[in-house]
Parts: sequence; structure tokens; C-alpha cells
Amino acid sequence: MLLVVKLGGSAVTDKARPFLFKEQRAELFARELARVLEAGSKAVVVHGGGSFGHPVASKYRLHEGGLTREKLLGFAETRYWMNELNQRIVSVLLRHGIPAVAVQTSAIALMEGGSLRELSTAPVERLLGMGLVPVLYGDVVPDLSRGVAILSGDMIAVHLACALRASALVFLVGSGGVYSKPPGTPGAYLVRELGEEDMVDVGESRGVDVTGGLRQKLECAFKAARCGARVAIGGVEHLWEMALGVDAPYTRIRASRE
Ligand code: IPE
Repeated sequence: MLLVVKLGGSAVTDKARPFLFKEQRAELFARELARVLEAGSKAVVVHGGGSFGHPVASKYRLHEGGLTREKLLGFAETRYWMNELNQRIVSVLLRHGIPAVAVQTSAIALMEGGSLRELSTAPVERLLGMGLVPVLYGDVVPDLSRGVAILSGDMIAVHLACALRASALVFLVGSGGVYSKPPGTPGAYLVRELGEEDMVDVGESRGVDVTGGLRQKLECAFKAARCGARVAIGGVEHLWEMALGVDAPYTRIRASRE
């Protein structure tokens, strides 16, 4: 069994406060992931940018492309902060006895017109084959027509889940799942099962988000479900249940009927 887990930036950073790493949530993530690995699964982790990646990428407007000197500085600075967040996550995983190995995403990915054109899976497969846990991340990457572009962790996670035929893809989010209306709105409830034909009010993403928030995440989730992976969106505390398909309060993504 192979699990691909997207650790959302909102799950381990405070998106409203630049560079704030939620160490305790990362510890909980590591404990849950260790349980999944103990159950005999292999795993690939992909994390988002949260308050390390989004504010810097947004400051330089990297999602709009360009190759000026300013953009290149923005590219380098965003890479620096993504590497910093990656180090913090990998370090927590190592402390929990998980053989986590960082994979520098911008070195193996290429985009064109804002869409993913290439993401080499061979380096990831080699590490998995050795029994390691590759850790990739949303990143700023070269784009053939725009110069630079932002590749979200969600897109990486779906690409890997489909290419490696993962049995499960889990999106970990700070809100704990998908709600009928933006969490906190009166009458909002956790949607336990969501299909492509179902309507939810995804609202606007809070804080600075250069990759499209929940709407884009759902598109990725449905795509992975069409590839045959069991897909779920929920909180870090339910990673084990989501990975193994055990019932708990999270959102299960239903594959399209066609
Ligand atoms: C964004 O990745 C990466 C950068 C901003 C460089 P994601 O879009 O996957 O990040 P989160 O999960 O929303 O924080």
C-alpha cells in the first residue's frame, strides 16, 4: 500500500502570521504518520507553503510569471523559505524515527503556461523502493512560457498519486475537512462525503494564497479519485483513519460515477 499525503500549509503554519511554524501540529502529524508506516504502508509526503511560501511568492507576484531581476530574486527567496519549512518538517519526522528525505521539487519539475508539464517520478520511486519517505513541497518552478510559476503541493500530490498508483491520497488541512459553508459561518457543517456533482460554498481563502485555495484543492481531489485512489480531506489528528479508510470526522471524496 502506498499513501500520498499532502500536508497543507494551513495544517502546520498560521497562514495569517508569516513564518509561524506550528511545531505541536507537526509532532502530531509525525505520530500519525509513524502509525501508518507501522501498519506496513509506504508513504510520500508533499507539504504546502503556508505562511513560509505564500507571502514571499505573493510579494514578488511570482504567480504572474516574469523573468526580471526582481522576479529572480523572488524565485530565490521563495526557494529559501520553502527549504526552511521543509527542514523543519523533516526534522520533526526524523525525531519520530521516520526516515524522511527532502526532494527539491523545483529541480524535478517544469511547468508551461501555469500547468504542470513534467514532474520526474523516478527519483521519488527510487527513494520509496529503498524504504525511505520522500518529502516534496509546493514550490516556485521554471515555466517555459511564463518564466516562473508556482506549483502547488496539491498538484504534485495528485500527479504522484496517479503516476505511482497510490492506494490513498490524504489532504491534511487546518480546518479539519470540507464544510458546507466557510467554517465559522452560522449553519456550516462538516461534509462527510463529497462528489463532483455536490455543491459546497468554498468561500474565499483567508490570508495570502497564490495557488487558488479550496476550489483548486477540490479539483485535485476529484482528479485523484478518478485515478482510483481513495481520497480524503481532513485534520492531522485523523491521518491514520483516512489513510486506512476507517470512519472518523473527515471528508471522504467520492469518485465520479462515469
Ligand atoms: C504553495 O504550495 C507553494 C508556494 C507558495 C511556493 P501549496 O499551494 O500547496 O501551499 P498550501 O498548502 O496552500 O499552503
